[in-house]
Amino acid sequence: MKYLAIVGTNSDVSTNRMLLQFMQKHFTGEYEIEVYEIKDLPAFMEPEDSDVPEKVAELSDKILKADGVIIATPEYDHAIPAVLKSALEWVSYTSQALTDKPVLIVGASHGILGSSRAQAHLRQILDSPELAARIMPSSEFLLERSQGAFDSSGNLIYSDKVTELDEIFREFVLFTNITSKLLEEKVVNKKVNEYAWQEDKDQ
Ligand SMILES: Cc1cc2nc3c(=O)[nH]c(=O)nc-3n(C[C@H](O)[C@H](O)[C@H](O)COP(=O)(O)O)c2cc1C
Repeated sequence: MKYLAIVGTNSDVSTNRMLLQFMQKHFTGEYEIEVYEIKDLPAFMEPEDSDVPEKVAELSDKILKADGVIIATPEYDHAIPAVLKSALEWVSYTSQALTDKPVLIVGASHGILGSSRAQAHLRQILDSPELAARIMPSSEFLLERSQGAFDSSGNLIYSDKVTELDEIFREFVLFTNITSKLLEEKVVNKKVNEYAWQEDKDQ
């Protein structure tokens, strides 16, 4: 299993980045997690031609090649950071690479709410028809008080949160497998429909 973990901020110092880096280290050997930065993407603007910025094409390619995507979002003014929204706008406007892609939402905040409102916001955005990601249902990983959550080696020191992360990630792996099976079925159904339509046409 190969996962792409998107850092939902362009801040140089970020506990959301630290969370993904911890996950990458913690699950090494079982799963491959690539931590990906969106800070070099240009701000979204509707291009005049069909040229796609190199960084946007790179992000789309990495999403397409991954079995699943993890997005770590901070909360800015009760929503996701503009830089993350902009990256998602690029994907929806160009490749639509997130369509049917299993996505796990996680987030860290310095306060006590652990980015819960931003996560709800992100869920709504990812559910739009042009993004249409397969977001893992009934799941939230909220890391509150994130400034004190990591030791100098980047380890998550809240043991209850490590347990929670183990559980949620195990579930996400299962969700990734189930989703890919469902999608195989979706293709079969589509073929069946096409076949039925051809029969109708012949009548
Ligand atoms: C512009 C701005 C707006 C913020 N708005 C909120 C907010 O609405 N709710 C909240 O809990 N924290 C808010 N914060 C604090 C962020 O949650 C906190 O800085 C961020 O989650 C930490 O993520 P990071 O360590 O990855 O940068 C805000 C921070 C900034 C810079």
